Amino acid sequence: MRLLEHADLSAGNTLALPCVARYLARPESLEEVAAALASARTEQCPVRVLGEGSNVVLAAYLDALVLQPANRGIRCLEQTDDTVLVEVAAGENWDAFVGHCVDKGWYGLENLSLIPGSVGASPFQNIGAYGVELADVLEDLDAVSLQDGVAHTFSRAQCGFAYRDSVFKSSQAGRWLIWRVRLRLSRHFRPQLGYGELQQQFAALPAAQQDADGLRQLVIRIRQDKLPDPAELPNAGSFFKNPVIPAAQHQALKARFPGLVSYAQPGGDWKLAAGWLIEQAGFKGLRDGALGMHARQALVLVNHGDASAEQVRRFAGRVRQAVSDKFGVTLEQEPVLFD
Ligand code: EPU
Repeated sequence: MRLLEHADLSAGNTLALPCVARYLARPESLEEVAAALASARTEQCPVRVLGEGSNVVLAAYLDALVLQPANRGIRCLEQTDDTVLVEVAAGENWDAFVGHCVDKGWYGLENLSLIPGSVGASPFQNIGAYGVELADVLEDLDAVSLQDGVAHTFSRAQCGFAYRDSVFKSSQAGRWLIWRVRLRLSRHFRPQLGYGELQQQFAALPAAQQDADGLRQLVIRIRQDKLPDPAELPNAGSFFKNPVIPAAQHQALKARFPGLVSYAQPGGDWKLAAGWLIEQAGFKGLRDGALGMHARQALVLVNHGDASAEQVRRFAGRVRQAVSDKFGVTLEQEPVLFD
């Protein structure tokens, strides 16, 4: 495995921010991971783990050894009448994996179609869309400690999944490289149609298309309709999390803003649609230099040209401030900052 020096990551992040890393390694095996960690120790260089760069804000220079898992492979470990246990390597592309599962008759991931990024990144932020999240199907995963190179298995409970969060993103941040993921999928197609728009549009499909591939294609169409393609308009998906607030604050806000878009959470809290808050704060489709909030989905920050990480930080700060001034709600950034 080659250790690339002064690796250009500008094409390796979907926000298209200019970035050079001191070193880049793309390990295909655990032996190669160990070799890269040994090099980092020799060079006294911090280690960062990057997938396909679809949920990161990269600084112009990363004084680090960036590890990008490049292992491949999808295999069925066990099968019952009802379920299948599938193991998939971190270096696989997430959406290609979802397509493979649908082809094989392994169901449960259709709603997570077309989410950009690698399989290894999927547990990191517990990817979710249209009423399904990775935590619903993940059985366990193997991760390598960046400190001592030892591999550990994390059960679903040990992953500490929450909305767009896991121990890998929060309490144990920077300590693990996710290497292999095992998912418990169903052998019977049971569409998850809790998201209203999906239910209506799925029901409107011809009967012959009301299958797993039909649902996958529908999710792809809905995403393509709202979300900009990073290859055409660089972005990192939702730039903020949907904020969760207590019932009393929700009640007061709803009284002031009857159009408030919100969803009741188990336990009494309410989740607000950050896209609505940002739109109401006047940022939908607004552009400031190279940066803007998308015209069809105000939650997506887009790079129209040659933005830098610093410009992203300032523009995102403006959006957060405007939402805070108008609604008294703090937006939390979703993509991870690498600096
Ligand atoms: N809305 C607006 N204006 C906007 C955007 C949204 O008013 O510009 C309101 C609408 O009422 C809309 C509601 O917000 O019905 C919710 O919007 P949407 O269904 O597009 O979902 P979201 O809450 O904005 C979340 C995820 C997406 C995921 C969709 C679908 C987060 C941070 N984002 O977005 O995930 O695809 O739900 O399930 O939770 C991502 O994480 O990168 C991502 C794209």
